[in-house]
Amino acid sequence: MKKIEHKGFTLWFTGLPCSGKSILADAVADDLRKRGMKVERLDGDIVRKSLTRDLGFTEEDRNMNIERVTFVAKLLTRNGVAVLASFVSPYNKIRAYSRNEIGDYILVYVKCSLEECEKRDVKGMYSKARAGEIKNFTGIDHPFEEPDNVEIIVETDKQTVEESKNNILYALNEMGYLPDEH
Ligand SMILES: Nc1ncnc2c1ncn2[C@@H]1O[C@H](COP(=O)(O)OP(=O)(O)O)[C@@H](O)[C@H]1O
Ligand SMILES: [Mg+2]
Repeated sequence: MKKIEHKGFTLWFTGLPCSGKSILADAVADDLRKRGMKVERLDGDIVRKSLTRDLGFTEEDRNMNIERVTFVAKLLTRNGVAVLASFVSPYNKIRAYSRNEIGDYILVYVKCSLEECEKRDVKGMYSKARAGEIKNFTGIDHPFEEPDNVEIIVETDKQTVEESKNNILYALNEMGYLPDEH
């Protein structure tokens, strides 16, 4: 498919585990690719097996995880790539750091009640955290700060994946990040 020129940006998804960050970032990525845009995905689960496999889940390590990812997102963004980054990223301070570094940074808060996230428990992590088998799990024994500066909020316990995806695309278009369709 012919690639089109467009402005680079990082669409950053923050939210509790199982809130729907990865599925939504994938869905938006698919859509942007179909428009001929240059797209790259950065996902917590994958990054933590490669770029940041040496890190754990203390506050310090979480910040380092996001710092490294921000470095990569920054390089891609300034080279005209649409970056879809999905990370729990639970602290406002490091979110602000990413925003400053990247510039064209759009934060999506993937909002979903803890109760619903725990019900989904895609990888069985909540039940392990409840049983004390894993420590520092966000939502259980580690904090998640509500974002204090956010462009887009989707509520995945009230909307379908399709509805959330469309809200995000609509907002991106309003902000001028989608190239004109011909
Ligand atoms: N409206 C919705 N939006 C997003 N995900 C949903 C929704 N309803 C159910 N789900 C399910 O919730 C799960 C979210 O998983 P995932 O995207 O891996 O979460 P995260 O990356 O935030 O940990 C998926 O299994 C998805 O099918
Ligand atoms: Mg995920």
